[in-house]
Amino acid sequence: MTICYFTASGNCLYVARTIGGTQLSIPQLMRRETIRISDEAVGVVCPVYNAEMPMMVRDFMGKAHIETDYFFFIYTYGAGYGEAYAHAKLAAEGAGLTLSYVNAIQMVDNFLPYFDMREQIDTLPQKNVEGQLEAVCRDIAARKTVDVRITDVTKDRMAMYRKRLADVWLRKDTALSYSVNADCIRCGVCAKVCPANNITVTAEGLTFSDHCEVCYACLHNCPQHAIHLPKEAGTLQFRNEHVTLKDIIEANE
Ligand SMILES: Cc1cc2nc3c(=O)[nH]c(=O)nc-3n(C[C@H](O)[C@H](O)[C@H](O)COP(=O)(O)O)c2cc1C
Repeated sequence: MTICYFTASGNCLYVARTIGGTQLSIPQLMRRETIRISDEAVGVVCPVYNAEMPMMVRDFMGKAHIETDYFFFIYTYGAGYGEAYAHAKLAAEGAGLTLSYVNAIQMVDNFLPYFDMREQIDTLPQKNVEGQLEAVCRDIAARKTVDVRITDVTKDRMAMYRKRLADVWLRKDTALSYSVNADCIRCGVCAKVCPANNITVTAEGLTFSDHCEVCYACLHNCPQHAIHLPKEAGTLQFRNEHVTLKDIIEANE
């Protein structure tokens, strides 16, 4: 089994590792000229961004040549996954694959503009992440299949979320609005955890370019907590408790 994953704050890396198999980082795969993956089972593990998949995961689905009899998508999310299953189905079909199985695991919501990480971490036990993960692992081991139905209502909702995605939340120039405070010691961790190579560190400071994935890896993993959004719902950063900073660097550098 091969798992291709995208992670910013570690939830998806933890899920990918727990499912098992060979784990491949999507940001690293995307730097290859061609991507060919062939295995009896192939899965994508990624976060829900604005009720669908991250932009880079969508691009990956357009670029990768995947050969498998069992293709699955596992999302991690915090508050709601909207029409993410339908997006997975359509992305699979676009890649010439059948989506055999899809599921979503509710974890900490790392979307800082809306959620306070203190509150997210405190209420995590109620989400029973381990129970959700066990069920997903059981399903995949049994090669369970599910059918995602796409109705006209689904399509309307997809269009609605997509508009918000393009107009408000997931803009490639988002990082241009980030601020860096005086605590920054130019250690370069932000550039290493950025899956999009969007950050340059010089003696003068940080420069953000215009191809941000809006994953917040730089904000959540900064050892000095020096990078900030114009509006944050709380004062804490988040990284999954089973994942280290080194793990995120190795995944995204
Ligand atoms: C830009 C952005 C948009 C997000 N949109 C959603 C969403 O629509 N629904 C949701 O439940 N969680 C949303 N989230 C939360 C992430 O899906 C969730 O925290 C995920 O587990 C993070 O995975 P990671 O730790 O591997 O990066 C969003 C996070 C970000 C950064």
